Amino acid sequence: MHLLDAFHRSGSSWFRPKRLPQPVSRPEGTAPKNLAIRGFTRDSTPPMSDSIGKLFLCAILLPIALGYLRWLGEKHGLYGSQTGIALMILAWIAIFSAVLSLHFRSLRRREAERRLAEEVWRDLFDHASCGYHSLDSEGTFLNVNETELKWLGYGRDELIGKKTFFDLLRPQDREATRRRFAAFKESGSVKELEFDLIRKDGTVLPVLLNSTAVRDSRGRYLFSRSTVFDVTEHRRMETELREARENLEATVRERTAELSDANLELQKLLAVHRRTEALLRGREAQLNRSKENLRRLTAHLNKVREAERARISREIHDELGQQLTGLKMDLCWIQAKLRRREEPYDPSACADKLGEVVHLVDATIDKVRRIATELRPGVLDDLGLIAAMEWQAQDFEKRSGIACAFFSELKDASLDTDRATEVFRIFQEILTNVARHAQASRVEVRLATDREGLLLEVRDDGRGITAEESSHSKSLGLLGMRERAYLLGGSFELEGRAGAGTRALLRVPLASTAPPERRWDPSCEF
Ligand SMILES: Nc1ncnc2c1ncn2[C@@H]1O[C@H](COP(=O)(O)OP(=O)(O)O)[C@@H](O)[C@H]1O
Ligand SMILES: [Mg+2]
Repeated sequence: MHLLDAFHRSGSSWFRPKRLPQPVSRPEGTAPKNLAIRGFTRDSTPPMSDSIGKLFLCAILLPIALGYLRWLGEKHGLYGSQTGIALMILAWIAIFSAVLSLHFRSLRRREAERRLAEEVWRDLFDHASCGYHSLDSEGTFLNVNETELKWLGYGRDELIGKKTFFDLLRPQDREATRRRFAAFKESGSVKELEFDLIRKDGTVLPVLLNSTAVRDSRGRYLFSRSTVFDVTEHRRMETELREARENLEATVRERTAELSDANLELQKLLAVHRRTEALLRGREAQLNRSKENLRRLTAHLNKVREAERARISREIHDELGQQLTGLKMDLCWIQAKLRRREEPYDPSACADKLGEVVHLVDATIDKVRRIATELRPGVLDDLGLIAAMEWQAQDFEKRSGIACAFFSELKDASLDTDRATEVFRIFQEILTNVARHAQASRVEVRLATDREGLLLEVRDDGRGITAEESSHSKSLGLLGMRERAYLLGGSFELEGRAGAGTRALLRVPLASTAPPERRWDPSCEF
């Protein structure tokens, strides 16, 4: 702004837009010669008062010099001869000439200095690193420097007096800029306004503009002094920065999304982990309970086995022992009779006794067979599982008085002896339970096969087992059946409906398989 101030203030002749001195044409970037010449700056230019002072000095010194000449002439009597007068006139002329010559030299030097200063200021104005322009009250260009012209691609003649600042804007920006210009004329200054100027070739020149208004003595707007900065690079950097920020934000968003996904995954994993932990704890507790139940079951089995032994021993002792004792007594009686041949010898009495003995032997054989069958039904080994079960059903009916119907879809269960024995024991326990607890009048037994293997279903029409009873962990009979089924790789279920009977269902794979992994079922201890 100082340069423009200087430009405007350095004399009224400087700011005549139409009569501006033409800039000295020289290759861009070269400075005018003798920039360092004395009197180059405005401060060192001799002021007008300086010239007046010199004239004033001349006006004093000249009469003194002339008076001194005259005194010399009179003292030496030079005015008395023509030669003397001529000499004096010559002396006067010489003094005048010297003074005039000095004066004109000084004028010429000042003119040269003024031209040089003007050239320098013009150079600074035209080739400054920013653009300068002035607009009149209509916004028409009054002046514009070379830098701005070069940026815009226009010639000086194409802009000055011919185009307005608004002509260099996009049509959609013009109206708003006119309003701003009107406000600027009122306020007198604007700072750092951004504009997109359209170059002559149609490309866009982004600029930053500062401007002040120059007014006349009555405060009316005369023209503007504006500096214009090319902010293309700044804009480019801004755009790059914005893009970089957007990219960064996008990356951050992406990473955040990834993180929250990972977090979700982690939470899911944690939930799974917690569930697994709970399951493991449950399984551990279940395992402990199972161990405890197994201990009790083993103890129960031992007890049952002992009770069974005691019962069999009692039966052998009480019944077989008695029968054999009776047999012995009968045989002894016959022996004695035969040895002594006592009179009266009655062979028919011996024959009767022998008949009793035979009867007793038959009863004993029956008894031995029954005990043996109870220990292990021979039919299981001789005729197989299905025949043994059928026999067991009939035996059950005979002993309990509960009608027992047996249906089998298969002739041969094709199970090995050990597995067949286990199935048979389970069947026995089911029937025992019906006899003991069901209060049933009828039982139906079905044997079938499906894809999973052998299927044994026993239905009774008794009171119906309750859910509590069937899931009771201390019921060792049920526990034993479930464990046996499990060891066979199958399953055992009991369900009952109050007053409508109980249904026992046993599934056993036909081929021997490893027991399935136990699934944790809180209602079931095995
Ligand atoms: N067919 C059935 N009908 C009704 N209740 C039954 C039947 N089978 C079993 N129960 C019930 O289940 C309980 C458990 O049976 P179990 O474990 O064999 O024990 P136990 O026979 O030694 O009493 C029985 O006490 C009985 O109350
Ligand atoms: Mg029982």
